[in-house]
Amino acid sequence: MAEANAGAGTATAAGPAEEVLAEAGLRLEVDGAVATVTLNRPERRNAMTFATWRGLAAIGRSLPEGVRVVVLRGAGPSFSAGIDLSMFSGEGEGFADGSDAAATDRFIAELQEGYTWLRRPEIVTVAAVHGHAIGGGFQLALACDIRVAADDVRFCMKEPALGLVPDLTGTKPLVEIVGIGRALELCLTARTVHAEEAARLGLAEIVVPRDGLDAAVAELVASLLAVNPGAAVATKRLLWEAPQNTLEQQCAAERREQIGRLRELFGK
Ligand code: CAA
Repeated sequence: MAEANAGAGTATAAGPAEEVLAEAGLRLEVDGAVATVTLNRPERRNAMTFATWRGLAAIGRSLPEGVRVVVLRGAGPSFSAGIDLSMFSGEGEGFADGSDAAATDRFIAELQEGYTWLRRPEIVTVAAVHGHAIGGGFQLALACDIRVAADDVRFCMKEPALGLVPDLTGTKPLVEIVGIGRALELCLTARTVHAEEAARLGLAEIVVPRDGLDAAVAELVASLLAVNPGAAVATKRLLWEAPQNTLEQQCAAERREQIGRLRELFGK
């Protein structure tokens, strides 16, 4: 297992430089076809800074080619308490204040890159969520393909309560999963969704007792790896296209992907 963690400034074989991960509060382990990204500031409930989002983007950019499944998890009692609130009091790198709209747009786009790579068809992304998943933490879980939740999970979209909008790619998957009415209700009340409701709304595909989370994720990962790799990539591409496509476009996409599969399986 190649591990990249806090430490001296040597570049790692399988990911961003160690100092980048350490500053980001992230740990990256790559074991064959599986990469595990751990949000690793348990003493701050894995609160996220700009460095965290940039670190996630750097992991996405440098992921080894053979990786097929990426697991995101949190160290300590919670998945993530969202944005590090100390940033609001002017500690560390300041916020873009929006006065230069173009610069602020670029700034947020850079942070969003920490989330968008999780949709790449070449990988299946699994969020292993326990405890609190608030704001940017909830959005990180939403950016993954599949969410496995512990029965102590607490999802909360806190941004509107702080005067902000959710801007880390979470609004689209939230609406696609729960519908506009429920998404509005969840965001504009900033209320907490517990495990039973999360399962019912489709915010978690699998819910297990807290002490069974790691085993449930390991079982899921093994099942994902057992599927033909090319078919997995093509199917993920196809399914993510489906909500935007008309039936006609989707049928054409199915034919196109199947031709690729048939060529690979039976072509001479
Ligand atoms: N930022 C910075 N520090 C945080 C933090 C955060 N978001 N969340 C927790 N911490 C710190 C606490 O200050 C505390 O530090 P000390 O030990 O020094 O006092 C430590 O982590 C442990 O926290 P708690 O004792 O509160 O732990 P808990 O398990 O009892 O409660 C919690 C956990 C419910 C997550 C609670 O800490 C909490 O409500 N945190 C704030 C959550 C929040 O409002 N996040 C912002 C979301 S909005 C967002 O994310 C916007 C965006 O992306 C743009």
